[in-house]
This record gives sequence, structure tokens and C-alpha cells, in this order.
Amino acid sequence: MESELQSNQKEIYTLLQKQMEAVLEGEHHVIPNLANASALLNEALGDINWVGFYLLHQNELLLGPFQGRLACVHIAVGKGVCGTAVSKDEVQLVRDVHQFPGHIACDSASNSEVVVPLHWQGKIIGVLDIDSPILNRFDETDACELEQLAKIIEHSCDWDELYVTA
Ligand code: SME
Repeated sequence: MESELQSNQKEIYTLLQKQMEAVLEGEHHVIPNLANASALLNEALGDINWVGFYLLHQNELLLGPFQGRLACVHIAVGKGVCGTAVSKDEVQLVRDVHQFPGHIACDSASNSEVVVPLHWQGKIIGVLDIDSPILNRFDETDACELEQLAKIIEHSCDWDELYVTA
């Protein structure tokens, strides 16, 4: 049987998916959509201290829209939790960042982290990164629900427009 916490968690994500679709509807530019997506996630998810995006640009991850403290701007593919999510093209569910070899500490308050790859036309284009000051903040349900949210975000954006300067 589901615990009350588990059913609350599902309710939060069900509502969040609807809100995300509503907030992003009608706009296709990557910057405002990722900015509002990070703001919505920041309001909806409890016990987090950083949420935002890193986008692949010139073969490395470049800081995108986020909510939280100042963050490192460049992350090499294969480095840190974000770079590992890209090189493996897999969600990284890190229950204790201090046990993750090569973890990049942008905010010393962070103790756990989840990183979800973003895709466009079958290729990885960046990641959604969420940090928490609580150890073990994220579980498999969070990872799965965040992958669904990442799909809503990916599909809301016209990624081809991002680096066009006309
Ligand atoms: N911890 C990340 C770096 C980004 S910050 O958390 C915002 C990592 O190890 O890749």
C-alpha cells in the first residue's frame, strides 16, 4: 500500500505537470521557457536549494536559466554529476553528493542532487539539475516524474532557434 508521503508526492507531480504545460503553452523560445520552468519547479518542490538548466554548447555544458545561488558557468562533459548525466545519457540520482566522485559543489549547502538529461530530435542537448540541502531528498519516483516534466519542457521549446542570431 502507498504511504501518505508517496501519494502526496504523486499529487504534487500531477499538479506540477499540468502547471508546467499551462505555463509553457504558447511560447517556444528556450530562454523564457527554461526561466519559467525553473521558477515553477522552485516554487513547487520542497527542500531544494538550486534548480536550473545546463545546455550543451561547443561540446561542454553552459549554465542556463536557474533559481538559486550563483553557479559554475562551464562544466565539461563527463565531469561532475551534470557532465556524467550527459556522458552516460542517464538520470543521475545522487543521494549523498559527498560520495559522488568529482561532484562539483556550486552551493556548499547541497547534500543530494538529481540530474535529468534533456533531448531534442533524439540527441542530448542539456540537463535539468536540482540540488537539495537534505540527504536522500530524491528517490526513484522523483527521478521518473522529473523525466516526464523534462519531456514537457523539451517539447515546449524550439531548440533550433536558440543559437540563431538574425
Ligand atoms: N553539482 C553539479 C554542478 C552544478 S550545481 O549543482 C548548480 C555537478 O556536480 O555537476
